[in-house]
Parts: sequence; structure tokens; C-alpha cells
Amino acid sequence: MGVYLALLLIFPFISIVSGSFYDITLQGESALRTVCESWRLNAEMGNVIGWVVIPSGCEEYVSNYMLGGQYSLDVDLMVREAMSYASKLQIEGDGKDAWVFDIDDTLLSHISYYSENRFGATPFNKSSWVQWENLAAAPAIESVALFYRQLVSGDWSVFFLTGRSEKRREVTEENLRRSGFTKWTGLILRQEDEEGLPAKVYKSARRQELEKAGYRIWGNMGDQWSDLTGYSTGERVFKVANPMYYIP
Ligand SMILES: *[C@@H]1O[C@H](CO)[C@@H](O)[C@H](O)[C@H]1NC(C)=O
Ligand SMILES: [Mg+2]
Repeated sequence: MGVYLALLLIFPFISIVSGSFYDITLQGESALRTVCESWRLNAEMGNVIGWVVIPSGCEEYVSNYMLGGQYSLDVDLMVREAMSYASKLQIEGDGKDAWVFDIDDTLLSHISYYSENRFGATPFNKSSWVQWENLAAAPAIESVALFYRQLVSGDWSVFFLTGRSEKRREVTEENLRRSGFTKWTGLILRQEDEEGLPAKVYKSARRQELEKAGYRIWGNMGDQWSDLTGYSTGERVFKVANPMYYIP
């Protein structure tokens, strides 16, 4: 409520309807950009949750963010921080030092799919997503791939923990390999009895299993807070920017 009020005071020309999303009435390019930027920042921080589509009016802003260079800079800096952190750790080297990666929009980029789907301005479309997934053509996010290669060439055990179904293992492995992710200690997909669970619940339980198996999760990288919260989150988490969609 406070945020709505503040926005109304600062931007009286912006009408905000009750409900989950801001309904922005365009009264000027820069005002809109400012509001969309504020939304993106708060979404990244996990303050704005549960959104189904990006705010109306923010499609061009998100497009510019993703394609105009800022997203790449943001991801590159995150990777540099992760590299710096990982390099300073005194790991045991007994095969039990683990790093967990989410897959979609963490290792593999779906910008080309979302650029065809209004950067998240339309609700998730399962059938067009599956068509895209079947192509197994999502490219690597290069800076994350560089970090991944450093880990696998060192003494790390790397786990991929994805919300994708076990039924999608083959196409998932194909895409990973094709994009240069050829080695992993474990590729964890949702089993049938996990299909209905929120990502946060499913992923927490799976990370806890890794810990019970003796792995020390030093780092956990994902583009959704549901990858990084719950329990057994790992010693440090690294959030990959993603203003295009929200997964609980
Ligand atoms: C979802 O995607 C399919 C396949 O591309 C398309 O035929 C369908 O019209 C889309 N549905 C909506 C609601 O946009
Ligand atoms: Mg993801």
C-alpha cells in the first residue's frame, strides 16, 4: 500500500489499479522508464512477487534491458563476484564441495524465446514453450558458462537442479551438451510426485538430500528466488537477473 501511495504521490499521472500489477498510463517516455526501472529493481530484490506478466507498458523497457547491454553487464558482474568468492574458498577437494546451478535462464538463455513472446508481457504459454524446449537450441549464458568451466576443471562437484520434469531429461541433456555443459555430477529433474510442488519446496528438499549425502553446498546460482530460498540454500546464493517471468 505504501509503495502504491508513494508512486501515486510522485507520479500522479500513473493510475494504479488494485490487484497485483501496476497499470501504467503513459505520460512520458522517461517517467515510464523510471517506473519500470523501479519495478524491475523491486522484482529482483524479491519485494514484488507473484507476478504473472510484467507491468503493462514495460515491454519496451524490459526489451531494452535484456538486449541493450545492461543485462549482460549485470550478469557479468554477478559472475565475477561468484568467481572471486569461489576462488577464495579453502575447499577440501574430496569431491564433496558442491555448486548448484539452476538451468533455465541461469545456464541456458531463453532471451530469443521471450523476445518472440513480448518479454513476459503475455502469460506463460506451455505449448509454445515446449516447442521451443524441444529444439534444444537455447544458447549458453557465456559468462556463467565460463564460471561453470572453471568449476568443473577444478575439484568441484557441479549439480544442475531444474524445475523441468524427468520426462524432459533427454532434450534437456541435449541442449546442455550442445551449449557446452558437458559434465556434471548430478542433473536433478522433477519426479512425478514432485510435479505439483512449488519450485522452492522441491528444490530445497533436493538440496537437503545432497547435504545428507555429504555434499557441502558452497554456492547456489539461479534466476529465481525460488531457486535460492527455502532451506539448504547453500553458503552463498547468486541471483541471475531476470525481469521476464516469475516462478514461485
Ligand atoms: C500458445 O502457443 C501456441 C503455439 O505456438 C499458439 O498456437 C497459441 O495460440 C498460443 N496461445 C495463446 C493463448 O497465445
Ligand atoms: Mg531458471
